[in-house]
Amino acid sequence: MNPRIKVVSTGKYVPEDILTNKDLEQIVETSDEWIQTRTGIIERRIAKTEKNIDLAYKAALDAITKSNYDKEKIDLIVVATMSNDNRNPSIANLVQARLGLNDKQIMAFDINAACTGFVYALEIASNLLVTGKFKTALVIGSEKMSQIIDYTDRNTCILFGDGAGAMIIEGTNEPKNEVYFYSDSKGDTEDILYASRYLKMDGKKVYQFAVQMIPVAINKVLEYAKLEIDDIDGIIFHQANKRIIDHVVKIMKIDIDKVFINIDKYGNTSAASIPIALSEYKDTQKTSKKVLLVGFGGGFTWGSAIIDI
Ligand SMILES: CC(C)(COP(=O)(O)OP(=O)(O)OC[C@H]1O[C@@H](n2cnc3c(N)ncnc32)[C@H](O)[C@@H]1OP(=O)(O)O)[C@@H](O)C(=O)NCCC(=O)NCCS
Repeated sequence: MNPRIKVVSTGKYVPEDILTNKDLEQIVETSDEWIQTRTGIIERRIAKTEKNIDLAYKAALDAITKSNYDKEKIDLIVVATMSNDNRNPSIANLVQARLGLNDKQIMAFDINAACTGFVYALEIASNLLVTGKFKTALVIGSEKMSQIIDYTDRNTCILFGDGAGAMIIEGTNEPKNEVYFYSDSKGDTEDILYASRYLKMDGKKVYQFAVQMIPVAINKVLEYAKLEIDDIDGIIFHQANKRIIDHVVKIMKIDIDKVFINIDKYGNTSAASIPIALSEYKDTQKTSKKVLLVGFGGGFTWGSAIIDI
């Protein structure tokens, strides 16, 4: 059974400090021109003093404030992250405390599916709402990638940035609120992308994986929803590389006007990229929209969703 959820609000937070391509030219052997032509990134945000939890909390607060939502209704918090400040407590537990919800019965936990994290988290939360045991979920993607990036490694340091995005969803019985998910993974790719102290990556191989799996993820979720790509109003890709997005748009003959892109401003914020983009996209829309989300990343993991926002 497909879950039925209502998206109540979205929010985002990005740190103030900007690291431009020009700044990176002073740190590693690279150039603004190389970065822009290979990735579409112009600048990214870096949390100099804030921790991952601060980013997650501020994104959650933005979602709550924007919709003037009664936070006391939240009974489930799921955070997608691969850059928690500590192994424990989870960011979700800390967000619960910051929101002053410690005395409430809440299930709060983090998940790690790298850059696919938010799509996985949304699927998990939506299905927990279906049980009826939980009524309102706060789903967050939050990353302080700068604390797992080696700023002497030009293969990775030019790509990533910090930030967080959040979404509040409620369970509902309305058939029109049915949402669709597709998710998949494979685990024999540790030599291509892994993060222990620092994130290491074979960019070319990750690129090949991405352009192969994104069309699969898009087609699968459309098939589950019995929809065509033309039925979708907006497409939010994980913002990893503009060239990856352009490639998929071209081979799938997607209308570029439907594709929301903000990688130029934030770089790849891993699990935060989709909810940040979704929040910015929603803020530009006057009416409800049917959106397709598609994520891919370390693991490898990949997944997609169709929701109304
Ligand atoms: C990382 C990425 C931008 C590199 O682009 P690319 O076209 O594959 O570039 P290559 O790795 O072939 O490198 C081309 C040349 O640029 C050099 N180079 C690599 N990084 C560089 C940098 N930051 N600045 C300047 N030159 C760089 C390489 O050393 C290589 O030089 P050579 O030809 O003399 O050997 C691209 O592969 C990519 O985006 N991959 C996907 C990564 C990703 O999205 N990861 C997250 C997944 S969620």
